[in-house]
Amino acid sequence: MPALALIAAVAHNGVIGVDGRLPWRLPEDLRRFRALTTGHSVIMGRRTWESIGRALPGRQNIVVTRDRGFAADGADVAHSLGAALDRVACPAPAFCIGGGELYRAALPLADVVHVTEIARDFDGDATFPALDPREWRETARESRAADADVDFDYAFVTYARVTTPIR
Ligand SMILES: NC(=O)c1ccc[n+]([C@@H]2O[C@H](COP(=O)([O-])OP(=O)(O)OC[C@H]3O[C@@H](n4cnc5c(N)ncnc54)[C@H](OP(=O)(O)O)[C@@H]3O)[C@@H](O)[C@H]2O)c1
Repeated sequence: MPALALIAAVAHNGVIGVDGRLPWRLPEDLRRFRALTTGHSVIMGRRTWESIGRALPGRQNIVVTRDRGFAADGADVAHSLGAALDRVACPAPAFCIGGGELYRAALPLADVVHVTEIARDFDGDATFPALDPREWRETARESRAADADVDFDYAFVTYARVTTPIR
């Protein structure tokens, strides 16, 4: 199995999405997402694929759905997370890019989690699973203060698995 990383932006209350979209505007986070994932395979749930609305350039896009008739222009389609991992064709790590349902399936298999921690609560209907501190250790943190464009503090945080992932 290829090394698997999760990447997500998460509000203080765990929210990652509302009504099929991101609850905030954070261009610096999108730039970091692009820098980390370009050249790799990105694996996403069908609802996240629909919210993005197109294949992400410079990456192998893999959409996970239970719908056997589903086709996605510019993306590979897999019917389970395991099948998606089998289709990974780009160098490691593969990135699970959401959303909430797929993060929950992928977290037990992941080695690394990149979280943009947003220091504010947001209303929403999709959440990121809690990271058990016995399983995940913070290995890097870059903090950013609110400014004229962004009215909350946030931090780019990397967590590495302490124990061996279940495979
Ligand atoms: N903040 C962030 O970093 C971030 C990142 C990504 C997404 N989001 C947000 O998260 C929300 C979407 O998340 P979500 O939880 O509603 O949906 P999701 O995880 O993106 O997609 C769920 C769908 O993916 C398929 N799926 C998921 N797990 C599967 C599995 N193990 N096997 C087979 N198929 C599986 C199913 O598709 P079918 O129904 O077609 O079978 C399921 O309905 C949106 O608001 C989006 O903007 C936020």
